[in-house]
Amino acid sequence: MQQTLRVNRYDPENPGAAGYQEYTVEVTDTTTILDALLTVREEMDGTLSMRCSCRASICGSCAMRVNGQAKLVCKTRVNSVSPDGATITIDPAGNLPVIKDLVVEFKPFWDKMKAIKPYLLPEGTVPKAEYIASDEDMVHLVGVVNCIQCGACVSDCSVLEVDDSFLGPAALAKAYRFVKDPRDGHQKDRLDALNESSGVWDCTRCMQCVEVCPKDVDPMGRIMLMRDMAMESGFNNTSGSRHTESFAKSVKKNGRLNETKLAVDSMGMFNVPAMLDSAPVGIRAMMKGKFPWKAHKSSEPDKVKRVFEKVEGE
Ligand code: SF4
Ligand code: SF4
Ligand code: FES
Repeated sequence: MQQTLRVNRYDPENPGAAGYQEYTVEVTDTTTILDALLTVREEMDGTLSMRCSCRASICGSCAMRVNGQAKLVCKTRVNSVSPDGATITIDPAGNLPVIKDLVVEFKPFWDKMKAIKPYLLPEGTVPKAEYIASDEDMVHLVGVVNCIQCGACVSDCSVLEVDDSFLGPAALAKAYRFVKDPRDGHQKDRLDALNESSGVWDCTRCMQCVEVCPKDVDPMGRIMLMRDMAMESGFNNTSGSRHTESFAKSVKKNGRLNETKLAVDSMGMFNVPAMLDSAPVGIRAMMKGKFPWKAHKSSEPDKVKRVFEKVEGE
């Protein structure tokens, strides 16, 4: 069976020639997208650049966009993406600069990882032998430790598309790994730092990171848990926590979110510097069609109100 791949090519030495190039390769039911790309590189066009190593979903080096969505291509079979043999479009991972063809620059990714201090910061006396942690705590952390740092979540994060200062799902999932580690003694400092702009409050809960993660790390769920932890630790007078409160108030009142009021409530009516600061992000969101031009109302706001009353009552 034959399969055509439409591959996004870019050569920094000849940027004018950038564009899609098609290759048709022989595939079977078990051929992965990576196998198909390697066939192209080895048998048809040695100039095609990509990253890969383990071919077993372990090293995290082969994330790229397949038909518009980030995937680990060594884990993705051709026939799962194109059961009818339709052309498959391959692009480099998103939200990171392209170096060549399907290879992206990971420096911004690693810089954000470093920014969250991805190592244990124990407090007090260092034990003579080993740190003791309960099985339950460590089993809970396995879900995040499974992250292979492939960057698929970063590629498809809708906030990073308009604001590259956001720490992003991978770094925030890594931050959770240390915030929740019972051997770490700096939980409060970590939450304090993550409470700043570009931290946990900048996520819009679009679910993309959950959907594309090949290891079920659930970055968005971890971010939401850190928001709760930050508020429980007393960090509840920030634009992020006010944003959450305004969000809930608006949905309770209108049955839907009034997004136009959200920024004013979060930053404060007279906080002109903060509003000016966020203006470039607002403009970029507008240009990408992500800006709501009018407040929508729910057709059944009473039902939404009743949900709130029930939850608050409990
Ligand atoms: S959270 Fe998932 S998608 Fe993101 S870097 Fe880790 S393994 Fe990859
Ligand atoms: S849920 Fe949040 S972190 Fe995840 S992709 Fe969406 S905006 Fe980014
Ligand atoms: S080649 Fe290692 S994860 Fe795909």
